[in-house]
Amino acid sequence: MIIDCDPGHDDALALLLAVGDPRARLLGVTTVAGNQTLDKTTRNAQRVLALAGARHIPVAAGCDRPLVGELTVAEDIHGATGLDGPDLDVPVADVADVHAVELMRRLITGAAEPVTVVALGPLTNVALLLRRHPEVTPGIRRIVLMGGSTERGNTTPYGEFNIVTDPEAADIVLRSGVPATMIGLNVTHQALATGEVIAEFRGLGTRLGGVCAELMTYFAAAYHRAFGFEHPPVHDPIAVARVLDPSIVRTVTAPVAVELAGTYTRGATVVDLHRRTGRPSTVDVAVGLDVDAFWRLLMTAVANLGR
Ligand code: BDR
Ligand code: CA
Repeated sequence: MIIDCDPGHDDALALLLAVGDPRARLLGVTTVAGNQTLDKTTRNAQRVLALAGARHIPVAAGCDRPLVGELTVAEDIHGATGLDGPDLDVPVADVADVHAVELMRRLITGAAEPVTVVALGPLTNVALLLRRHPEVTPGIRRIVLMGGSTERGNTTPYGEFNIVTDPEAADIVLRSGVPATMIGLNVTHQALATGEVIAEFRGLGTRLGGVCAELMTYFAAAYHRAFGFEHPPVHDPIAVARVLDPSIVRTVTAPVAVELAGTYTRGATVVDLHRRTGRPSTVDVAVGLDVDAFWRLLMTAVANLGR
């Protein structure tokens, strides 16, 4: 898989899952502006990989703003660095000297079998890849994205952050014809980093376990301030979990449209679960999560990394 991301507390856990699970083969990491500015999300991806002992995995920086309009970061949730909380001081590897879109193109065309693209931030890089290099699409097995919702949003009443940040990019991706799986808030809000989860991370007794505990402690306080949530939802690793063990996330195939123009609903994902629109059903939409299996997978991966 390739992970395109904007770390981000939950992106960081997703990267650890993809490095620590023995079934995963993480070919490369590309970064996009979203939770924070591009320089910060890129630095954070480098740091997380270095902490995980995976400095060899290439990291390439991509788009520093959405296709249309200006970037609004999620500093209220992820802090001034994008990964506020733990001490992440670690020597990092150099960033690749190519754009994220070019790294994705090279990794996909050079792979022996089709590659899964896991998208954990605004879809700007992925949309550009599909528009600029349509010849790579047969090499993409599926795009598994964290974004959207079958229900309400988190950035606007009906809009989820990754889609609201770049609705045009999401529209391009979901209408591209490449098989897509959408992991939305309706499912990610079931994976809550409770006190027990945080204690379990800490109980691993490793630096990495401590970093995860501190990331989630910061995240919990931020979610409490911003949304009044008792525990924070850990969105992004669920997309990686779906790739590693599809039985963890239940999906249904449904038509999904991105609202590009609504007065109050720009960036909403309009999921036609009851097939009322007659539009073709093209997206596998997450509707259920095996919460215990998800946490087991993530904890085991972080434990496997040791460190
Ligand atoms: C998504 O937005 C970001 O804040 C998270 O990293 C996640 O990808 C949740 O809406
Ligand atoms: Ca993210």
